[in-house]
Formats: sequence, C-alpha cells, structure tokens
Amino acid sequence: MEHKKISIEEMGTFCKRKGFVYPDSEIYGGIAGFYDFGHLGVEMKNNIKQSWWQTFVKQRDDVVGIDATIINHPQVWKASGHADGFTDVLVDCKKCGSRFRADHLIEDKLKIHTAGMSIEDMSKAIREKKLKCQKCGNDSLGEPKRFNLMFSTIVGPVEDSAAISYLRPETAQLMFTNFRLVQENARMKLPFGIAQIGKAFRNEISPRDFLFRMREFELMEIEYFVHPEKYDECPYADEILDFEMNVYSEEMQQHDKKFEKMTIKHALEKKIIKTKWHAYWMVQMHKWYTNLGVNPDHFRIRQHVKDELSHYALDTWDLEYEFPFGWKELQGFANRTDFDLKNHIEHSKSDLSLFDEEGKKKIIPHVICEPAQGVERAFLVFMFDAHYYDKKRENIVLKLHPKIAPVKLGVFPLVSNKDEVVAKAKEIHKKLLKDFTCTFDTSGSIGRRYARADETGVVACITIDFDTLNDDSVTIRDRDTTKQSRVKIDELHDVLNRIIHEDDKSIFK
Ligand code: GAP
Repeated sequence: MEHKKISIEEMGTFCKRKGFVYPDSEIYGGIAGFYDFGHLGVEMKNNIKQSWWQTFVKQRDDVVGIDATIINHPQVWKASGHADGFTDVLVDCKKCGSRFRADHLIEDKLKIHTAGMSIEDMSKAIREKKLKCQKCGNDSLGEPKRFNLMFSTIVGPVEDSAAISYLRPETAQLMFTNFRLVQENARMKLPFGIAQIGKAFRNEISPRDFLFRMREFELMEIEYFVHPEKYDECPYADEILDFEMNVYSEEMQQHDKKFEKMTIKHALEKKIIKTKWHAYWMVQMHKWYTNLGVNPDHFRIRQHVKDELSHYALDTWDLEYEFPFGWKELQGFANRTDFDLKNHIEHSKSDLSLFDEEGKKKIIPHVICEPAQGVERAFLVFMFDAHYYDKKRENIVLKLHPKIAPVKLGVFPLVSNKDEVVAKAKEIHKKLLKDFTCTFDTSGSIGRRYARADETGVVACITIDFDTLNDDSVTIRDRDTTKQSRVKIDELHDVLNRIIHEDDKSIFK
C-alpha cells in the first residue's frame, strides 16, 4: 500500500464527496474562506480537539483551561496591539478592482520567500518585475497598503463608533485578561499555563488552499507563564534532550542552507533554540502528532527571521508540515515576554502582577512560549498523512489513528436479505453504539462496504453471517491489513476496546 500524494484541491473534493467538509452556503455560490464540517468532519474535528485537550490540559497539573467569548471589550484589541498592528499588505488592481495579498502575489509570481519583506520592498518588487493583476492581467496594480484583518461588528442597538467591537482574531488575549482570576481561583503557581480552544476570525485578503487559510477557524492555544528571572528553569528538560527534530534556524535560512536533523541537546548547546521551555513545548506538540500516527519526517521547526516576527514576539518558531503546496506553518511558538500582561495592566489599570514570595516583590510573568495552532490545519495534516492507496483493493485507505478516525466501527450483515442475520447485526450495532462511533451498512456487496469504510478511515469492520446465529461469533476485519479474526460476541467489547482505545491490534496476528 502506498502513501498517496494528492493536491489541496483534490483533498477539498475528497472531503466534500465523503462528507467531511463542505463549502459554506454552497447553494448560494459559497462564500470565500468559510467551510462547514459534515457528519464525518465534525466527529474528526471533535476527536482532534478532545485529544489535544486531554493531552495538554487534563493530563497535566500545570495547565488549566478556559472558554471565553468571541466578542470582547474593544479595548482588549487596542491594548493587544491588534487594532493598530494586525495587518497584512494588500495591493489592488485599479482596472478590475481585485485585491491580492502582496506577499502571496510576489511569492507566486517570483518564486521567492517574502518572510520579513518590508512594504517598500514589496512595492519595489511589484514595479521592477512589472507584476500584473492576477485576475485581469493588466499592468494596473496600485501601491501596496496595510489592511487590518479584524472583523468589526456593532454591539447593541445604537450604531455609533462607541458600539464597534471585533470578532476575536486569536483566543490568546482572553487568557491574559482573565489571568489573575484564573491564577487565583485555580491556585496556580509559576510556571503554569492557561489553555483555550475556540473560534477565531480573520478577514484574510485572499483566503485559499481549502482549510489552510480561512476567515473563520478554530484555535488551540496555550499561554505558558514563567517567572521573569527563571527563564530557563524547565523541570522537564532532561526528558527532551535526546529527541531529534528537523531544525531550520534563522541563520540556515539567511545562508540558503537546508534544514538539519539534530537533537534538542545540540540545538540548545549551540543556542539555536534559546530556551529549554521553547524546546520543550515544540517537542510536546511534535510528539502529539507522531503519537497519533503522523510521520515525523514530514515536520520541521522553522525560526522566524527578524523582520517576520509579530509585533508582540521576541522569538518565534513554527512547527511546519510538508503540505502538497510546500512547507507551511502548522503551529506557532512565540515567546511573547510580558508584552500582553503589561499592556493590559497599562490600558485597564488592573493589577495583573503576581507576588513573588521568594523575592518578596511583585512580578509580571512572561509567556515564554505560546503554542498556538489551528484545528483545521491539524485536520489537514491528519488527512494528508493518512491518505493511502491500496492497488490490490483498488481503493483509498484512510489510515487515521483510532483516536482521530471519525467512525471507529462498521457493522455489516453479510447478507442483507436474511431477516435473522440483519436482526442480529442490528442488535450488535445497537449495543456497540453506546461506546463507539459506529455505522451500520447493508447496501451493496461486502467488498463495496469494506471499500466505503476504508475510504473514510473506519478502523475495524464487524461482519455478522449465518454462522453467527449458531456460534455467537463475528468476524472482525482490520482496515490497514484486511486481516480478519473470529471473535465471540461475549468478548467483542473487550477486543474492540483494545483496538480502538489502546491501538492494540494483536488479535489480527
Ligand atoms: N495567538 C497567536 C496566534 O494566533 P498565529 O500564528 O497568528 O498565532 C496560530 O495563528 C495558528 O492559527 C497558525 O499556526 C495556524 O495553524 C492557524 N491559523 C492562522 N490563521 C489561519 C487562517 N486564516 N486559517 C486557518 N488557520 C489559521
């Protein structure tokens, strides 16, 4: 069975055909940058979020979660710097009125990296290389200008400027505005983190690449706070020193070198990664993916070059994945320092500092690392990495990890015209539904039903046949190998628990 490389457009078609993702309001022609999740997509997205929450919140004693609102006091976004600085550079066509993201236009046409490029240099590149409008083809592009990505809205019945607020462009700020309450109520001691999963909205100039760049998406973020004088006191450092990653530092990028595989120990010793905490969180997120079956060779960590850094960041790395359209950001890890807490203290006049018992003074904690990733980009990674084609079976096999697969089990009566067999299969299906996401399929040949299940990542299929009526046994078939095993109905639950919850497929050996 071979890993099948498909384009992002083919992925969009596949997701629509199988019931994972649909363009939003498609009956009216759709709306760019908005997508709806179908019956399989919603299950898979929930599985991704649950696994993340379980790993990074529930199973840790140093991280707690919150769930804040999407619309907030407008001062939040003034203090955070988003009202003034959360911009992309757009360029519009004076002839046809189309608008483009200047960096994307330059990257597409000139095949160069634009990370860190100033607005003046973009203007120069467009003029000197005589770039044309991508829509009408005319030499009519205007001057690049900044465009704020926040969606604004009116709160309440009076439409005046005081009523203008924004749909949050990130969940992070609400971890800062609630910082003191969470710290006090959950009695957290530094170092600790606050996590959140929720919707974010960005009025992207040119949403593209299916779920990769959307206008409404979901974020999974952690703000990890440390004592400002204890930047490098990471109690977990020893656990990660031997871990290997593909590393692409600022220096490597500046000298047009390739990324290198190295241990964390090496990266820290050579000061490529500056703090242990930063390294620690990148390893945790990398491991989260690989523990869920994604190939480690498809990842690298890339440091932001100086001019690319966000307005709040001292040092940022991205976990990148090799998508069919190139290495792209999957998740950011910014060192936000005390930028946000300080700004909220200044704007709100609230005390968000902590009292340091040891030093007997007030301190403002630093966010040493902010692991922040989009749920939909994670969704794409799992889908691309799991996409296999089996020549023998002549169908796609979506080899999703059992924790991520939207449907765990398929229950099939071998023959659909024998009432006793169908009734027995229904009885088994009903029982399994209590503990597993599980479909029931009677239509077409058994081979066709297996193929349909393979293509949507169903982990195991259970077939009920004539013998079941006599020996109280069923056949379980493994998606990845097609191996089969006969199991007593009494033992079915335990066996399936091992396959689905423990990824233990020894029954098929
Ligand atoms: N609080 C930090 C923050 O929001 P970011 O790099 O702007 O950082 C974090 O966004 C992650 O959100 C990205 O790594 C990406 O996974 C996801 N993301 C950002 N913009 C997106 C978009 N337009 N569509 C889908 N996902 C997006």
